Amino acid sequence: MTKLDNQLDTKVGTKVDDKHHYDVAVIGAGAAGMMCAAVAGQRGLRVLVIDHASKLAEKIRISGGGRCNFTNINAGPNNFISENPHFCKSALSRYTPQDFLSLVKRHKIAFHEKHKGQLFCDESAEDIIRMLKAECDVAKVNWRMPCKVEQVRQDAAGFVLETEQGEIHAAKVVIATGGLSIPKIGATDFSYKVAQQFNLKIVAPRPALVPLTFDAASWEAFVPLSGISLEVDIETGEKKNKVVFREDLLFTHRGLSGPGVLQISSFWQEGQSIRVNLLPEVDLAQDLIDAKTTSKKNLANYLSGYLPARLVDGLLLAHGFAGDLKIADMQDKRLRLLGEKINRWELLPNGSEGYRKAEVTRGGVDTRELSQQSMMVNKVPGLYFIGEAVDVTGWLGGYNFQWAWASGVAAGLAI
Ligand code: FDA
Repeated sequence: MTKLDNQLDTKVGTKVDDKHHYDVAVIGAGAAGMMCAAVAGQRGLRVLVIDHASKLAEKIRISGGGRCNFTNINAGPNNFISENPHFCKSALSRYTPQDFLSLVKRHKIAFHEKHKGQLFCDESAEDIIRMLKAECDVAKVNWRMPCKVEQVRQDAAGFVLETEQGEIHAAKVVIATGGLSIPKIGATDFSYKVAQQFNLKIVAPRPALVPLTFDAASWEAFVPLSGISLEVDIETGEKKNKVVFREDLLFTHRGLSGPGVLQISSFWQEGQSIRVNLLPEVDLAQDLIDAKTTSKKNLANYLSGYLPARLVDGLLLAHGFAGDLKIADMQDKRLRLLGEKINRWELLPNGSEGYRKAEVTRGGVDTRELSQQSMMVNKVPGLYFIGEAVDVTGWLGGYNFQWAWASGVAAGLAI
């Protein structure tokens, strides 16, 4: 354990309360839960945070390659997927990326903008965990970790949590246990189970921001391209449901990954194709036809002017073109076909790498069950759902944390 781990080890913070009675019990010491606990506690409420893990906020720790892409300065409702796209507007407008950035600056955490408004810590994601823990300390938040919650039930005074450390009573309960992604660091279906218990609708969860896979036979020709990365346009869906991202794509042994593929995976439906434009700035068919009169090069050499040589060789082989053919000798029809394979390469994924690799879970507690102001369940006063447990899923790029902060603050202020 590092020195920091020791500081953050919640056994240090564990404070068993004699009466086991709290104003608020927050289940889940992740991004949304800690933010909610700090805000509620700083309003003077007696708050307990419970988590079955022994360490705080494991997902923050591993996020952004260890540097936590903690928000996106351009985050707005259009960067989120939900069956009810208007739901997230209220929380997002009341706690903005600038608000979180002010907190980061107040804690003197060095950060930088990496790409398209994505803000990362200069040093480590641990800085964000330490900041949230410090905010919780100011709020005198109590901790029970590791502690498994077996059941949540209502009583006349509010809620009773049956835990492996006995009963805990709380007037209000916030479910902040996230989604199903990365079970090996503690993700569970707890939020959905509580939702079912209280007869709340759930939008079917599925892995999102996840690499896509292809059946072994159809992918065989592309396996040698593993490790190649390039900027592409990638799209899925048709007409008004069409979504396009210009981002990097990465070839892997089993399929495609990289930011572009992760983005599109959140919109992709089983059975749908995806289309990749490997050369978004060039109309390749026209360019090749024009080159018949101006270039003496063969196909492989000519294309290597645009794309990495290893990719060119792999693509020509996979699509059945001989690289040593002189462009001038080729029929326009063949050049058009090649142009299409590169500018509009259509692929049919057979699935994804699943929750093992997914950065988030799409779907969750149906937002129509919740108040957009407070995140409270409309038909169960005192019960709240926040963060990834809710059917609000951000794009790749700091949006999911912004939702965790904003929904946590909304509940923390309303409780
Ligand atoms: P979160 O998952 O953070 O916390 C849930 C907590 O509940 C955990 O502490 C867990 O132990 C606890 N819990 C679960 N089940 C329980 C149970 N039954 N009983 C008690 N406790 C339980 N987003 C982003 O915006 N920028 C980024 O850089 C990244 N990077 C990234 C990398 C990787 C590898 C992953 C997997 C994810 C990301 N994300 C991200 C997504 C982001 O991490 C995620 O959306 C938020 O952490 C969600 O916050 P929550 O608080 O809702 O859940």
